[in-house]
Amino acid sequence: MSKLLEGKVIVVTGAGAGVGKEIALEAARQGAKVVVNDLGVNIDGSGGSAGPAQRAVDEIKAAGGEAVANTESVAEWKSAQAIIAQAVDTYGRVDGVVNNAGNLRDVIFHRMTEEDFDAVIKVHLKGSFNMSRAAAPHFKTEGAGAFVHMTSTSGLIGNFGQVNYCAAKMGIVGLSKSIALDMEKFGVRSNCLAPFAFTRMVNTIPSDTPEGAARMKVNQRLEAAKIAPFTCALLTDAAKTVTGQIFGVRNNEIYLFSQPRPIRTAHRGEGWTVETCLEVALPMMQPSFFPLDKSRDVFSWDPV
Ligand SMILES: NC(=O)c1ccc[n+]([C@@H]2O[C@H](COP(=O)([O-])OP(=O)(O)OC[C@H]3O[C@@H](n4cnc5c(N)ncnc54)[C@H](O)[C@@H]3O)[C@@H](O)[C@H]2O)c1
Repeated sequence: MSKLLEGKVIVVTGAGAGVGKEIALEAARQGAKVVVNDLGVNIDGSGGSAGPAQRAVDEIKAAGGEAVANTESVAEWKSAQAIIAQAVDTYGRVDGVVNNAGNLRDVIFHRMTEEDFDAVIKVHLKGSFNMSRAAAPHFKTEGAGAFVHMTSTSGLIGNFGQVNYCAAKMGIVGLSKSIALDMEKFGVRSNCLAPFAFTRMVNTIPSDTPEGAARMKVNQRLEAAKIAPFTCALLTDAAKTVTGQIFGVRNNEIYLFSQPRPIRTAHRGEGWTVETCLEVALPMMQPSFFPLDKSRDVFSWDPV
C-alpha cells in the first residue's frame, strides 16, 4: 500500500494521549517521521511527565515507524521554537504541524479567574500561534507546508462554562484563516478541524444526572482514532488545494463547517437613529437570529 506521508516530517503537539497520539500513530504509518510533543500534564495544565510522549514514540517505533519525543510546552515562544528546531535538527526539515495540545479550566463565567482564562488561551491560542510562527520560515523556504489546528464545536457553536476555551477555539479559526491568506503565495496551507472523541477531556463533562450519564454512554462511542485519517489527509500533497477551511470529524462522519457571511442587510438612505435601529433594523433581522445553541443542540443525532 502506498504511504501518503512518505519523506515528510510532521510535528504533532499534545501527541502523548487522546486525539494527538492517534494522529501521530497514523502519520507514522503513512511514512512520516514524527515529532511527538507532549508536556504530559493534567487536564488543567498542572504537573508534567515525559512518560506520555515517550510511550507514543515507543509505540510508533514498535510498529516500524520513526519518531522522536519532545516534552516542551507549546505555550512559550522559546520552547515552541525549540520543538520545531528539534524536528529540523533531527530530520532535516519540517513539512506539517498539527496544533493539538490542549488543557481545560471549565468554570461558569462570573467565577472564572484571570488565571483560568490566561492558562487556556496560552496553550490553545498562543500555543497555536507560537508553533505556527516557529514553523512558518521553514515552510516559506520549502515553498510548501501544512498546518492543521484543532478547534472545537464548543467555540464554533457554543457551550456552558467554557468562556476561556470557546474564545481560544474561535481565535484559532481566525488564526488559521489569516495564516492561509498570508502564506498562500508560499504554497503553505492552513485548516481547522473540530474533533469529537472520547478522551479524558470529554470525560470531564459532568455525568451525575440520568441525562448526563446517558450522554456519556454515547460519548464513549466516539473513537479518537477516527480523527487521524482525515487529519493526515490534510497533511498530504494530494490536499494541496485545501486551505482556509473548517472541518469536523465524529466517528465515521466528516463535516465542512460554514463560515460567517452577512445573511440580511438593512439599508436606509437617510441613515439610522437609535429609534429606527430598534423599530426597523432589529425586527427585520429578528426572524433570522440564531438561537442560543450549544454544540449538542446542533449535533442532536447520535454518532454513527
Ligand atoms: N476530545 C474531543 O472530543 C475534543 C473536542 C473538541 C476539540 N478537541 C481538541 O482536540 C485536542 C486534543 O484533545 P484531547 O481530547 O485528545 O485531549 P487530551 O487531554 O487527551 O490531550 C491533550 C494533550 O495535550 C498535552 N498538553 C497540554 N498542555 C500542553 C502544552 N502546553 N504543551 C504541550 N502539550 C500539552 C497534554 O499533556 C495532553 O496529553 C485539543 O486541542 C482539544 O481542545 C477535542
